[in-house]
Amino acid sequence: MKILGIGSALPKKVVSNDDLAEYMDTSDEWIRERTGIVNRHIAVDETTTSLSVEAVKRALAAAKVSGEEIDLIIAATVSSDYIYPTLSCEVQAAIGAKNATAFDIGAGCSGFLFALGTADGYFRTGRYKKAVILGAETLSKMMDWTDRSTCVLFGDGAGAAVLSAEGEQLKAMTQGSNGFEGMVLKCNNRPVNNLFRPLGPQTYSFTEMNGQAVYKFAVRTVPGAITKVLEEAHMSVDEVKLFVLHQANKRIIEAVAKRLGQSMDKFPTNMEKCGNISAASVPTLLDQLLEEGRIQAGDKIVLAGFGAGLTWGACALEW
Ligand code: ACO
Repeated sequence: MKILGIGSALPKKVVSNDDLAEYMDTSDEWIRERTGIVNRHIAVDETTTSLSVEAVKRALAAAKVSGEEIDLIIAATVSSDYIYPTLSCEVQAAIGAKNATAFDIGAGCSGFLFALGTADGYFRTGRYKKAVILGAETLSKMMDWTDRSTCVLFGDGAGAAVLSAEGEQLKAMTQGSNGFEGMVLKCNNRPVNNLFRPLGPQTYSFTEMNGQAVYKFAVRTVPGAITKVLEEAHMSVDEVKLFVLHQANKRIIEAVAKRLGQSMDKFPTNMEKCGNISAASVPTLLDQLLEEGRIQAGDKIVLAGFGAGLTWGACALEW
């Protein structure tokens, strides 16, 4: 397969660490030092669907592909606007992709990598030729804004890619899950509540995280996943031009770079501007790198995501 075009969209409202310090007991220094995050975009007038549609339209324009040519749409999200219909079906209608099969997947911050792996599998059946994959989140609606240990970390946004089954860009892919430790990062859905088990009116649940457990999981898992795809792709780690990692936290990325023996120059970041946008972080960063001309034909690039589930995914690409 081959990526034909990338697009992204962020909400208009930018919220700085200093802005947050006006609402809660935190500081720019604490957030910046522990995470690398300085600003994040927060949805006010936007929704997961509106950001997705904007990102997908930009990706289609970059790829010079029409909605009607798309036969597969996979949206990765944990914060869609409806439980059903799915985000992917909303996107299908908005771009006029009347020939597409559309469904969502939930793999937390690994979502874009899981969508890529799933599209690759569908392409290999021979029944699909052109796909839109996207990662989109408005996690701001899933934060407990009185919990300073989580709400300062996340932002909202969407990133999308148009893929073709024809091409040899994807050299190797790995995905993995560890549900045994899943409860370290969670947000409850509705509990069973019906005529036969009435619980009465319920309030929403919000994101709960054991930050140190997530940190250890990421630092333990991501270097192994990257090493695995590089071996399968017959690429040396030194040949890789850029490692485009999920933007959870600068300290996690620094630890991964150190374990791989690589300089941080090869690990571009955008968490300073966007915070952690979960499934949207990898495609959003890719879009920015392409716009800056930092990825050229023939470059060897690694993508890696890790997050709720727990889940992880990595792939090696030759652009
Ligand atoms: N501002 C100021 N102080 C804070 C804040 C804040 N926003 N949040 C927590 N604190 C305080 C705590 O109350 C605690 O105070 P205490 O010592 O008086 O009790 C102190 O800071 C230390 O808290 P810890 O939770 O131990 O902080 P830690 O050093 O572990 O850093 C962090 C927290 C940054 C979340 C870290 O654990 C981490 O990087 N984890 C990785 C998890 C991650 O990045 N998750 C993102 C989502 S998951 C994903 O994308 C895969």
